[in-house]
Amino acid sequence: MKKTKLIASVILMSVQSSLLVSALFASHTLANPMITNHTQSLAASCAACHGTNGNSVGNAAKLAGIKADYFVAQMLAFKSGARKATVMHRHASGLTDDEINQLSVYFTNQVPAAPAQLKSQLLIKTTVQE
Ligand code: HEC
Repeated sequence: MKKTKLIASVILMSVQSSLLVSALFASHTLANPMITNHTQSLAASCAACHGTNGNSVGNAAKLAGIKADYFVAQMLAFKSGARKATVMHRHASGLTDDEINQLSVYFTNQVPAAPAQLKSQLLIKTTVQE
């Protein structure tokens, strides 16, 4: 009887610890010690065009889950001018190589979300009374 209880509690403990481990890994950015607050605030500056956590809802490229080496290669090409750009040469030239590396880790660890369905907005004409 005692033995059964012991086995049951050992099983319960291992289930609990595996749940804890998967919970830790679910929060990708927190589990990755390379991603600092500085990197997260740099990444926030990309959100205006590339969406929250790189999940773009517009025409800008989706960065969530991007391959890290592809990301670094593009950023360095924007920085050097080897890849022509309308805006990215400006963003890239403001970043150090180390910051680009850290951003690659950040964005590669973001989970790509299903594209949001944005409803078109109806603009209502109002007349101003004078
Ligand atoms: C003002 C809007 C804007 C902001 C802010 C912005 N981007 Fe971009 N991004 C673009 C556009 C537009 C392109 C396409 C290249 C171009 O014309 O500049 C692009 C392209 C890219 C690409 C290449 C994607 C591919 O599939 O080849 C990467 C990588 C990228 N941006 C990363 C970033 C990062 C990292 C930041 C923040 C530090 C950032 N972008 C901020 C607009 C923006």
